[in-house]
Amino acid sequence: MKTYAMTGGATGIGAAIKTSLREAGHSIIVVDIKDADIVADLSTHAGRDLAIKAVIEAAPEGLDGFISCAGLGSHIPDLSLIANVNYYGTIDLVKGLKDTLALKRGGVVMISSNSAPMPTNTGFVDALLSDDRPKQAQEMESMEGQTVYSATKQAVARWMRRNTAEFAALGIRMNAVAPGYTETPMTAAVKSDPTYREAINQFLASIPIQRAGVPEDMANAVNFLLSDAASFVCGSVIFVDGGHDAMLRPDQF
Ligand SMILES: NC(=O)c1ccc[n+]([C@@H]2O[C@H](COP(=O)([O-])OP(=O)(O)OC[C@H]3O[C@@H](n4cnc5c(N)ncnc54)[C@H](O)[C@@H]3O)[C@@H](O)[C@H]2O)c1
Repeated sequence: MKTYAMTGGATGIGAAIKTSLREAGHSIIVVDIKDADIVADLSTHAGRDLAIKAVIEAAPEGLDGFISCAGLGSHIPDLSLIANVNYYGTIDLVKGLKDTLALKRGGVVMISSNSAPMPTNTGFVDALLSDDRPKQAQEMESMEGQTVYSATKQAVARWMRRNTAEFAALGIRMNAVAPGYTETPMTAAVKSDPTYREAINQFLASIPIQRAGVPEDMANAVNFLLSDAASFVCGSVIFVDGGHDAMLRPDQF
């Protein structure tokens, strides 16, 4: 039996990850803003701090893995919330749990998105990666939800790759999963927004494998990345998107 911690286990993809790990007999500590072992608001510095301390206390022997899944979609009007949960809610926790993960040479899986490599506001991505808050606020003034969302997901993947070697030296394998469109409460909310509905229907019709993803597709990829079968997989961004990224960007990988 292994001990994992995760964020965003209350609904959607995170709930499927939680269920599959529990069904496999593992112990999993869930951090979420609701329905969790540790209730914390990851959009705030205080919430992230509370979550880190509580996870460390709940896993004194160390963690076999950490999955960062909490996230907010592009439909959230307060754009800074998207940045705080998606980016800082991921990297602050990974940094804060580094020593606890090193105790058991645990694995990290971050949930990015297949929107991460799409054209976005790279100035904002750089401002996230350099933790330049005034620049982030300035860039956000001219941005929309979708661009902020994809930028946070790109920043997560790039932060993971930039820090892969340092973490690997401690035995911590970091990887990311980049889901394509997956049926969850988040996509249901975005789809119900008339601004996005038509674009989403067209997007769905263009998925090569001809179906939307389901949360279990992502849980399967996470389980693989956490397992010993993936012991040489390190610093990778795995697209689980029915072929969408390959179709849209065939020559970039
Ligand atoms: N559904 C998709 O199509 C899709 C595609 C690509 C990436 N993703 C990513 O997958 C992850 C899971 O998304 P989902 O689709 O399952 O959505 P979801 O809304 O069902 O799940 C998001 C989870 O994050 C939690 N959360 C939100 N705000 C929080 C906060 N302030 N503090 C703590 N927890 C908070 C929610 O309570 C929920 O459990 C997200 O990071 C999302 O960006 C989803």
